[in-house]
Amino acid sequence: MNTRILLKGKDLLGIKDLSTEEIMLLLNSATSFKEILGRDIKKVPTLRGRTVVNLFFEPSTRTRTSFELAAKRLSTDVVNFSGPSSSIVKGESLLDTALTVQALGADLVIIRHSSSGVPHMLSRHLRASVINAGDGTNEHPTQALLDAFTILEKKGRIEGLRIAIVGDILHSRVAKSNIYCLRKLGAEVRLIGPATLLPRWFGEFEGVKVYHDLETGIEGADVIMMLRLQLERQGTGFFPTTDEYFKEWGLTKKKLSAAKPDAIVMHPGPMNRGIEIASEVADGPNSVILEQVTNGLAVRMAVMYHLEERKEE
Ligand code: CP
Repeated sequence: MNTRILLKGKDLLGIKDLSTEEIMLLLNSATSFKEILGRDIKKVPTLRGRTVVNLFFEPSTRTRTSFELAAKRLSTDVVNFSGPSSSIVKGESLLDTALTVQALGADLVIIRHSSSGVPHMLSRHLRASVINAGDGTNEHPTQALLDAFTILEKKGRIEGLRIAIVGDILHSRVAKSNIYCLRKLGAEVRLIGPATLLPRWFGEFEGVKVYHDLETGIEGADVIMMLRLQLERQGTGFFPTTDEYFKEWGLTKKKLSAAKPDAIVMHPGPMNRGIEIASEVADGPNSVILEQVTNGLAVRMAVMYHLEERKEE
């Protein structure tokens, strides 16, 4: 009897849809892929012959590069595609564009878009697997997976940890995917930020508490996840000025002392130094920000591997 665990869906659209078992499958496999990335020869033939298309309609440094590298480490053929250089500027629809890349042989389509729900729309029309690389203010599932992987690596567990997510939670797909992921894995989640960027209804999730004072919120925290202030998604009036935002919500060494001494500081990037985080913290001994980036590669290899694996059953 085959007792292997497989992902249930053909796509990875969000953490909300994954079971705890599926999350742990991906995180455990990422450990094996990280071991491969530490070897002299970092490439494995696992997905040789498959084609991955990166469709990015919003800027990205970490996610696009690490999906491309992850696909190459698995020996796939990778094509990178950005909105402004495509026939979308001539009026072609996004769906026709995606159907075109599928007709060219794409097995995995990785999509980032400023509109929430675009990956879900594509998943209904494509045979290829769709991976959400960030859709509007909805979800960024591989970011939450790499964050969970980093926490497990540093703390050995997630269950029972006190994890603070700080800043512009209202506009953050990273925060939403992390709330789903960390709660499924049993963490106590604290959301901290100004009332304009963190409505109290976020606290209605079981196991999630809302704070409007940074030092109170991070008291005794094991993990502090700082978020970028997403000025491009905001109107005006969420806070007076970025200087005042930093004074109230920016993480400095002094404020960090309210957390546990061995607390880790995370940030999904890109960082706005001097707005949500001081350089003394971003570059300090508690920071694991660059390790998050490194771990993204192993996690994305695991996601692509498991989506292709289920097609063979
Ligand atoms: N964390 C993240 O999504 O970064 P990029 O926008 O650089 O991909």
